Amino acid sequence: MFNIRHPQKTWFGVGSVSKVVEEVNFLNGKHLLFFTDKGISEAGIADIILEQLNKESVEITIHDTCPPEPAIQDLENIFDEYKNKKFDLVIGVGGGSTMDIAKSMSVLLTNTGNPRDFLGIDLVPEPGLPTILLPTTSGTGAEATPNAIFSIPEDQVKLAIVSTHLIPKVAVVDPELTITAPPKVTSAAGVDALTHCLETYVARNATILSEVYSLEGMKLISRSLRKVCKDGSDIEARSDMALGSYYGGVALAGAGAGAIHALAYPLGSRFHIPHGISNSLMFSHVMKINYSSEIKKFAKIANILDEDTLSLNEEKAAEHSVDAVKKLCEDCGVPTRLSEVDVPAHAIPELAESAFKLERLLNCNPKKLTLEEIEKIYQSAT
Ligand SMILES: [Fe+2]
Repeated sequence: MFNIRHPQKTWFGVGSVSKVVEEVNFLNGKHLLFFTDKGISEAGIADIILEQLNKESVEITIHDTCPPEPAIQDLENIFDEYKNKKFDLVIGVGGGSTMDIAKSMSVLLTNTGNPRDFLGIDLVPEPGLPTILLPTTSGTGAEATPNAIFSIPEDQVKLAIVSTHLIPKVAVVDPELTITAPPKVTSAAGVDALTHCLETYVARNATILSEVYSLEGMKLISRSLRKVCKDGSDIEARSDMALGSYYGGVALAGAGAGAIHALAYPLGSRFHIPHGISNSLMFSHVMKINYSSEIKKFAKIANILDEDTLSLNEEKAAEHSVDAVKKLCEDCGVPTRLSEVDVPAHAIPELAESAFKLERLLNCNPKKLTLEEIEKIYQSAT
């Protein structure tokens, strides 16, 4: 018995941004709380949507300073700013960080309590305000997931609000909105999207429904990640990445991420390494310890990432999946070793302790990992 969760409606395709007004009207939105960030505002992306909305009889409150990789204090400050105001619809335009803030605010404005009360799994009692999310990067898949991630600086960890109530009413995935994403953001986000598809595919709680999204997502990303890193204006490749990232988000909602994410999060909270890069640092090193637990699936991953493996037997192909991922990351110019980002070896025991606490993720990993094994993975990544 299993389920899959996704937005009530998803618009996908070049030009789908023009559907926002229709959706606002459908959801009867009159008092809109609109989240974005400085970069998206400066790139003129927020204006594309705001110009359409300004023609309607709606009142819009714009919060255009959502920070990257937000801490829980950032969410608390934003909540304080808006908690006594009345809204009936939330819009989030940006990368995962902005969408996570928008999703969280949608439930904070309808529930009683403070942001920290909801950190954990299924701690949000009431549905949030209807929410429309528009991703401007192809990475987190946050437009489809029930998760919002925040760092807790005093504990040097990242924790999540996880609730079906965070899944938006509408996701508008328009690849054109990702065209201006800079190369470094594009490559790191793309690797993040690939980890979502790959980790969910081999996750212990993967289902035949989540696997459909994981596999299709991997195919799209594998054929287009290199292209989009080379030429960000390639709209076909951007479309593959946008859809692959969305699929990764749906797969996450159905199966959950694993040890790559568990080991990546402490790098983000301790060393402020962006999420996509943290994943890339851990990606092949975690796969190396995982692949023998799911030979068939890792062989299939190798076949998707490198068609030269089609002639290999399953054992060999599965083993090759590790190199195929490493090569893809290297070709996209994202670091794959801790030394490349100045993480010192003496930090490893502490990182391992932090990762070991992330049971939500480690429980999904195909192989049960001990603290010693986690430490060894970090060491192999130096
Ligand atoms: Fe991720």
